[in-house]
Amino acid sequence: MGPVMDTAQLEDTEREAAARLQAATDPDQLRAAEYETLGKRSALAAFNQQLGQLSPEERRSTGQLLNAARARLQAFADARRQELEAEARAARLEAERLDLTEVPPGPERGHLNLVTQTRDELEEVFIGMGYAVAEGPEVETDWYNFEALNIPKAHPARSGFDTLYVDWGEPGSTLLRAHTSPVQIRVMQTQKPPIYSIMPGKVYRKDTPDARHTPSFNQIEGLVVDKAITFGDLAGTIEVFTGAYFGPAIHSRLRPAYFPFTEPSAEFEITCTICEGEGCRTCSGTGWIELGGCGMVHPNVFAAVGIDPEEWGGFAFGFGIDRCAQMRHGLSDMRVLLDNDIRFISQF
Ligand code: PHE
Repeated sequence: MGPVMDTAQLEDTEREAAARLQAATDPDQLRAAEYETLGKRSALAAFNQQLGQLSPEERRSTGQLLNAARARLQAFADARRQELEAEARAARLEAERLDLTEVPPGPERGHLNLVTQTRDELEEVFIGMGYAVAEGPEVETDWYNFEALNIPKAHPARSGFDTLYVDWGEPGSTLLRAHTSPVQIRVMQTQKPPIYSIMPGKVYRKDTPDARHTPSFNQIEGLVVDKAITFGDLAGTIEVFTGAYFGPAIHSRLRPAYFPFTEPSAEFEITCTICEGEGCRTCSGTGWIELGGCGMVHPNVFAAVGIDPEEWGGFAFGFGIDRCAQMRHGLSDMRVLLDNDIRFISQF
């Protein structure tokens, strides 16, 4: 047994014991540290055993010092235990927490198809010019698709539409609309002029798919019925639309054409955006791409819906939405719009 301890030794021992307790990082380690610093084999216990060698006065005073040191260390250990238990509880709660906001990994979210996006953008351009949006059925009658539009039976223009007929009612009476112009008729039947309306939607033709054609495509029809409407209003409207949608670098031109439901009529073309007018495969070397047709509403069409052509005038136009998407995004082949190839679709 060594020399009887002095106060400095006791202080050192207490400091070391406190450091040892503080160093414990979980309740198990703390229990081990308490055993080492306060248990039967601890330095503190060894000091207690030395008390017997002291005189009665020294034994009392040193005993008090030892008891006080032990009490402080025990209080320190208890505080440390509470701290570590709180930490362990927090860690357990964190580990067991369910994150209900987590988005499970998986396929990316989808978005609107390019054609739908294009339709929305075109609608925005015309809504900005004060037009309303109207819709009509895709399965139509011969009367709406042809008769009311001044295309009677046996009219040569009928063959130009390559119409798909539906097996319903009288043979030849029901069809998949070949253009959006029948919606003009429906709008004029239900609304009084003045009318400023666009009519987007799907149309169907017996076309063989190629770089510029698909058997089902989308058109957007425009109809204005008002007083003192001129061909200049029509040309100006198309010019404004072309600039608003394609940008000021793309020009439009009207070429004389024939449609039974308009007189005079024109074809509406824009600079080919693939070659910017140089001539390429997409525009068959012309530098221009046909978007659709237009003209002044024919008096026979007004007569079919009971609008007085002496009082009202109007213009109409119709063009391809898919063709606009093709031109705007430089798609050399329109068939990609129907392929549903995710590598193409996800680019827009
Ligand atoms: N309906 C015509 C077509 O599909 C386009 C058009 C619409 C022409 C309105 C003139 C006026 O070809």
